[in-house]
Amino acid sequence: MNGAVPADILSDVVRWRRAIHRHPELGFEEERTAALIEAELARAGVEAVRVAKTGIIATLRGEWPGKTIALRADMDALPIQERSGETFESEVPGKMHACGHDGHSAMLLGAAVALARERAALRGTVKFFFQPAEEGPGGALPLIEAGAMRGVDAVAMIHVWPTLPAGTIGIRRGPAMASCDDFDIEIRGRGGHGGYPHTAVDTIPIAAELVGALQRIASREIDPLDSIVVAIGRIDGGYRRNVIADTTRIAGTVRCLNEKVREGVPERIERITRGVCEAHRATGTVTILHGYPSVHNDPALADRIAAIARSTDGVPAVVDLDRPTMGAEDFSYYTQEAPGCMIRLGVAQPGEANPPMLHSAEFRLDESALPVGVHLFRALAHRLPADL
Ligand code: NI
Repeated sequence: MNGAVPADILSDVVRWRRAIHRHPELGFEEERTAALIEAELARAGVEAVRVAKTGIIATLRGEWPGKTIALRADMDALPIQERSGETFESEVPGKMHACGHDGHSAMLLGAAVALARERAALRGTVKFFFQPAEEGPGGALPLIEAGAMRGVDAVAMIHVWPTLPAGTIGIRRGPAMASCDDFDIEIRGRGGHGGYPHTAVDTIPIAAELVGALQRIASREIDPLDSIVVAIGRIDGGYRRNVIADTTRIAGTVRCLNEKVREGVPERIERITRGVCEAHRATGTVTILHGYPSVHNDPALADRIAAIARSTDGVPAVVDLDRPTMGAEDFSYYTQEAPGCMIRLGVAQPGEANPPMLHSAEFRLDESALPVGVHLFRALAHRLPADL
C-alpha cells in the first residue's frame, strides 16, 4: 500500500456525504442512497449485489491470496427535524442524518473506489456491506441471511463519535456497546369512583410500586460489577381525577453488556410484575421485545486494528477507550459470526466543549474527520487479510 488516498476521491467523499445528508431515508427506504452507491461502485468497476431491499454487498477480489474481511457502513437516517444549521441541511421534513450514517456510507464508498484502483496490490478479498435500517428494525440480520458473512474471517465498522476530537480513532477491546431489549407491561385492576377506592382495584399505585420494584433488578439482583440499565420511558393510565384507573401500561428498555445477564432479565421482570400485581389484587401481563445483542470487540482483532491505525498515514491519533457505552448497534450480529471490531472516529469540532450528541437535531460532524475514516478503511483492506 503506497501513498495516500487520491485527493479526487476524498473530495468525492464529502460531496457524497452531503448529497446523502440532504436526502435522508429511514430504514429499508434507502433507495436513493443505494442508487448513488451502486452508481459509484459500477463506475469504479466494483462488483455489487442488492440484498434485503436496499442493502448492498460489494466484493473486491485481490490478485494475491489472503483472508476475507468485511467492512460495514449503515445508510439509514432518523425521524428527526434537523436543526444543525448546516448549509446542506436535510431537504426532507422530519428526517435527518443525526447518527452520522451519511458519513459512514460515504467513507466506505470512498475506500471501495480507492481500493478498486489498487486491486493488483490487494491480498485476499474485501467485502463492503452497505446496510439498511440500523436504527430499526435492523438490517444486519437480513444481510447475514442473504449470505453476507459467508467466508468472512473478520469484520469491522466505523462509527462517528461526537465526544472524541475530529480525526481521533477510538478503539475498545472487549464489550463495546450494550444489548437493547424493550418491554411493555399492562396492569389490569378494576375501575371505580375515586371516593370509594375499596370497591375498585387501583392500577396507579400498583404501577408506582412496580416502577420502584423493577429498579431492584439493577440494585439488588445483578452483580454490581455487571452493567445493566432498566429504564421506564412511558407510563400511561387512567381517565380523569376522580376515576380509578382500571388499566395502566408501562413501557421501558433494558440495556446489558453481558449476554448472560441479559438472558436472565425477562424472568426477573415477569416475576416482579406478577408478585407486585398479585399483592394488590391486580394482574400484570409482560411482553418482551427482543432487540440487538451487545457488541463485543474481539480483543486480538482490536489490538491488530489499533496497530494498523497507528502506522497509517492520515490517521492523526489513536486512543484506547477504557469504557463501553450503553447504546446499541446491530453490528453485534456480525460479531456473532466472525471476530469483529467497532471503531469510533471522533468528529467534534475544535474547542467544542459540549458537542450535540448523536440522535440530536443539532448534531453535526467535522468533515475533516472523513478522510481519516477512508484512510483507515483502506489500510485495513490492505493489511488485515495478510495478517489474520
Ligand atoms: Ni448510528
